Amino acid sequence: MIDIFGLGCTAVDDVIYVAAYPAADMKARVLRRERHCGGLTATALVAAARLGARCAFGGVLGPDEASRFVLGHLAREGVDVSHATSRREARPIQSLIVVDEARRTRNIFFDIENVFGAPPRSPSRKQIEGCKVLFVDNFGIQGMTRAATIARSAGIPVVADFESSDGDGFQELLSLVDHLILSESFALKLTGAANPAAAARSLWNPRRAVVVITSGERGCLFVDSSRHPPRRVPAFSVKALDTTGCGDVFHGAYAAALAHGTPLQERLRFASAAAALKATRHGGQQGIPTLTVVNQFLQKNS
Ligand SMILES: Nc1ncnc2c1ncn2[C@@H]1O[C@H](COP(=O)(O)OP(=O)(O)OP(=O)(O)O)[C@@H](O)[C@H]1O
Ligand SMILES: [Mg+2]
Repeated sequence: MIDIFGLGCTAVDDVIYVAAYPAADMKARVLRRERHCGGLTATALVAAARLGARCAFGGVLGPDEASRFVLGHLAREGVDVSHATSRREARPIQSLIVVDEARRTRNIFFDIENVFGAPPRSPSRKQIEGCKVLFVDNFGIQGMTRAATIARSAGIPVVADFESSDGDGFQELLSLVDHLILSESFALKLTGAANPAAAARSLWNPRRAVVVITSGERGCLFVDSSRHPPRRVPAFSVKALDTTGCGDVFHGAYAAALAHGTPLQERLRFASAAAALKATRHGGQQGIPTLTVVNQFLQKNS
């Protein structure tokens, strides 16, 4: 039995640190370099796995070194990669991130050539029906729409994180999501609303279980079927060092709590705690807390 089945994007981030980002035509010596795995779905699955959920990855990757890096990393984190699909030209997102140590800035160059996300015709209906939560993003819209249609008709919740509405069929995919969790910036862009509460209201409809809009250190707000106006869940007050991946961790923790059967408000508190703890640590996935740490934090802050 799989708790969370994720089909979307993965990334390899090569990070290089320089004393100062060079001007055009100038050189800069690399002080150190790191390679990390990232991407919406990959980070959400790693977060959910660290929080005790049984996770599986079913996206498309290739035989290249970057794809193998991602699959090896996911497997070491306890994510089942046996459902991943292989295609010769497929790649993860590959980013080069240059960190300027003096000014504490980072420039990101990302390559999404041959990034397919969800495969068009797999996993099988039986495999999808065997999971507790389907996790989707905006990579591979055709395959995501197929999988979400199967999940919804089987009564399996679909949790989504989207960062772009580009691509044919996005509106249909959006309509199939019942646990829609979007960052404030994307929700405002998508709806044209003036504020997150208005965006949540405009994205809500009775076919959804909940719409959640996340606003960084200002916390999140949600609308569900209770007929209440949008309600706020404050963020935990922490000393934030690095908020990279907080949104992805929030999604993964939410999906893990949903698979576990945790009620909505408690689920949002759990996701907020996991994301706040991540903000206190450096790095994207390295900073994801374990279940014990999140539970201790929640107890201390109750
Ligand atoms: N500085 C912070 N302190 C406490 N909690 C935070 C902080 N930043 C983020 N969070 C928590 O994480 C949730 C998601 O963060 P945010 O809204 O920044 O996601 P995002 O914009 O999708 O980020 P990304 O895609 O870069 O990971 C917030 O609703 C909040 O609960
Ligand atoms: Mg995000």
